[in-house]
Amino acid sequence: MVDIQGNMPKNPQQMQSEQDAAVNTSLGKIKNKILVMSGKGGVGKTSTSVNLSIALASRGHRVGLMDVDLHGPDVPRMLGLHGMPEVNQNKKLAPVSYSENLTAISIESLTPNKDDAIIWRGPLKFSAIKQFIGDVDWGDLDFLIIDSPPGTGDEPLTVAQTITDARAIIVTTPQEVALADVRKSINFCKTVNMKIFGLIENMSGYTCPHCGEVIQLFGTGGGERTALQMGVQFLGKIPFDPRMVACGDSGTCYSEIHKDSQVTRAFNEVAEKMSALL
Ligand SMILES: Nc1ncnc2c1ncn2[C@@H]1O[C@H](COP(=O)(O)OP(=O)(O)O)[C@@H](O)[C@H]1O
Ligand SMILES: [Mg+2]
Ligand SMILES: [Zn+2]
Repeated sequence: MVDIQGNMPKNPQQMQSEQDAAVNTSLGKIKNKILVMSGKGGVGKTSTSVNLSIALASRGHRVGLMDVDLHGPDVPRMLGLHGMPEVNQNKKLAPVSYSENLTAISIESLTPNKDDAIIWRGPLKFSAIKQFIGDVDWGDLDFLIIDSPPGTGDEPLTVAQTITDARAIIVTTPQEVALADVRKSINFCKTVNMKIFGLIENMSGYTCPHCGEVIQLFGTGGGERTALQMGVQFLGKIPFDPRMVACGDSGTCYSEIHKDSQVTRAFNEVAEKMSALL
């Protein structure tokens, strides 16, 4: 593939060392790199990446949010971002500004036509993601949050191998079937030598808007138990809120509209815990 300057690829070795250099420059001024992952899709990985980024930014941290999901880049949609990243004076991609402390970029930027179904094979995907990581100019950041597709495939693997000091946050829902996937994610991290920062249990309890009773849609506490069993830090529970679905669908940012909700408060607590731990 051509890079953002339109150059044709050089020989593989030269290309690799240039990519490595670009990645080092791009990530050099970022204090904490966090890869958000999950065993299966639909557990709220992207929702967590987005709302956690907002919570960290609102605490005064400088945050960058990147998605490396070639097949379903949801980050710009959930943030309601429409702008395309521009190429700056360093000939790198400048992430799109969401607020004073938060910028974001999606790998979608590399694929101008949103409706094109992209079929990437492993090695090509690896190279494209690595190229993308090296092509973005983040500047100084406290946190880089990286959203990836579910599972333990090429994307999290590429991130683990390219950003060697990245740490993982694993998102799960409370039910037992999801927890089996968590164990797989934890083992993946061990295999690729990626430190695990912690575990978040999403869709944990729903407060009935009529009577205030908490209904455990998918059970509760399974995430915390698994974290304890596997020796992983538990970062918190995020309740279920149907308004999250509506926001996701309409491209409005949940945390922005529902500042006082239980969900936003829960993300703020996770952000607080993260700042305290680091
Ligand atoms: N805490 C929650 N309460 C209600 N809906 C949620 C919650 N977290 C995520 N969702 C919804 O679940 C769906 C999948 O979430 P998403 O973040 O896209 O998951 P993933 O990135 O893991 O595939 C979306 O429609 C989202 O709005
Ligand atoms: Mg997602
Ligand atoms: Zn009720």
